[in-house]
Amino acid sequence: MRPVMRMTRALMRTRDVGVACVFSFACACDSRTGMAGARVDVAGTSGPPALAAPDAALACASCHAAEVLEWRTSQHQVSFMSPDFQRSYRAERRELCVDCHAPLRTADGARDVASGIGCNACHVVSEGHVAQTAGDRPHVTTKACASCHDFDFPGTRAILQSTEREHAQSPFAATPCAGCHMKPRARGLRDHRFDVTRNRELLADAIYVQSTRFTGDVVIVTLATKSVGHRFPTGDIFRRLTLTLTALNEDGDVIAGDTFHMGRDWDGHRASQRAGITESATDTRLTEAPREFRLASPRRPASVHATVDYERGASAEGDFFESFETMEILNKDLRPPATSANVPVPVPAPLASHPKTPTHE
Ligand code: HEC
Ligand code: HEC
Ligand code: HEC
Ligand code: HEC
Ligand code: HEC
Repeated sequence: MRPVMRMTRALMRTRDVGVACVFSFACACDSRTGMAGARVDVAGTSGPPALAAPDAALACASCHAAEVLEWRTSQHQVSFMSPDFQRSYRAERRELCVDCHAPLRTADGARDVASGIGCNACHVVSEGHVAQTAGDRPHVTTKACASCHDFDFPGTRAILQSTEREHAQSPFAATPCAGCHMKPRARGLRDHRFDVTRNRELLADAIYVQSTRFTGDVVIVTLATKSVGHRFPTGDIFRRLTLTLTALNEDGDVIAGDTFHMGRDWDGHRASQRAGITESATDTRLTEAPREFRLASPRRPASVHATVDYERGASAEGDFFESFETMEILNKDLRPPATSANVPVPVPAPLASHPKTPTHE
């Protein structure tokens, strides 16, 4: 169940090393958070804390208004205040959740819950930063993102979030996280919205049906990701895609149907922990390698209807899945299914079409 999972998650390496201080980009946070062994004042209160002070980004707004406005719409800003985080946090109230979801502190030493993942969680900004030459300014690298987006169970090699490792395996390993998630917008402005899991259009663009075939007794639908630099969905363990296939005859009657999940669950994680292995054996998330889904059908259907739901879960254990939100990201009639193999298939967008950000490594 989620509470157990969250408890385990909360005992991760952040306890010892202080997540925001592993890499130099974020060490400005150290003095603010005083993370080593500091008591967290918000743990133990009930419900979201009242916003006593405005977020710290106000200090940057006079000169970087555009970045501040964009960041204010982001999940990064609300990473502590969002109702979904709060619901999980109420179920399992741990200091370490706060270390990652609200790593900064206000001037008086309180947790800066209003800033969430604030400017200073990613940028080291000195008084004189305006005068620094571009070459001297610290850049925000993939490693910096990974300090929060990639971590294991405590004392084991079993993965909890593995976005950086998935990224390193993907054809997009050379493209830094920010190269896809912070595209250049207006001149001199990098996208600070981090608008992904609430954006149906973007999520829909991340997958495609490569082919639909019929072999005699099976409909084979092939699905893959398109230009996603890691497995999909990445990040939180309780995310999954659900593919529903329905085969119809000429009259529109259903002759076959099935449902397929692509994700992870807590059972698989426990098993991998016991076995001392890194990867969850039940990780069925999608990658850019086309994957076949097979639907037994008594005869050739006139059409096949496919839907894919993107689900953000509160909890997942075996067949049990409790959703924060379900979003339909694909809804298509695949007709007519071509017979047998060797069907010409649409090709996904080429890797080269992705912008590189040379300032990152
Ligand atoms: C008084 C105005 C001012 C304030 C306040 C200010 N900055 Fe800046 N900042 C600048 C200027 C000017 C530059 C250089 C702009 C350029 O190179 O285009 C800069 C550059 C930067 C850069 C580097 C951009 C690059 O090209 O590498 C970052 C990151 C940054 N600021 C973050 C912040 C953050 C975070 C805050 C709030 C804690 C902040 N700044 C507050 C004026 C300011
Ligand atoms: C999740 C990490 C993250 C957060 C949070 C974040 N930034 Fe950035 N910011 C970046 C990255 C990555 C770049 C690209 C520049 C680089 O470091 O190479 C960047 C670039 C910038 C720049 C250079 C101009 C531009 O837009 O590309 C400024 C100025 C800046 N950020 C200000 C801010 C301010 C102000 C905040 C808070 C409102 C903020 N950033 C929050 C990661 C972040
Ligand atoms: C200090 C920790 C921290 C750092 C550093 C950080 N993130 Fe995040 N990020 C989070 C947390 C926590 C969330 C989840 C927020 C939520 O939904 O509650 C998140 C969410 C996201 C999301 C999903 C947003 C959505 O729509 O749900 C993306 C994409 C993302 N981060 C990318 C990045 C990238 C790229 C970088 C590096 C430039 C980065 N992050 C750096 C902690 C961090
Ligand atoms: C080649 C481009 C690319 C790269 C590189 C990339 N991502 Fe993504 N990421 C995507 C796409 C595409 C999505 C799906 C939604 C969308 O279209 O934005 C996504 C989704 C996410 C999400 C939301 C959870 C999900 O899968 O729905 C998070 C969090 C995230 N990425 C973090 C990262 C981090 C951290 C890195 C670097 C280690 C990274 N990404 C590198 C393209 C990329
Ligand atoms: C090492 C950093 C880290 C720690 C510790 C951590 N989280 Fe997170 N959490 C993240 C990141 C990064 C994401 C975003 C990944 C994504 O969007 O897929 C996230 C996402 C989430 C989400 C999904 C939010 C959404 O909007 O979909 C919930 C809920 C959550 N965390 C709750 C918790 C709780 C409760 C704890 C403590 C028991 C905790 N987290 C501890 C880094 C952390």
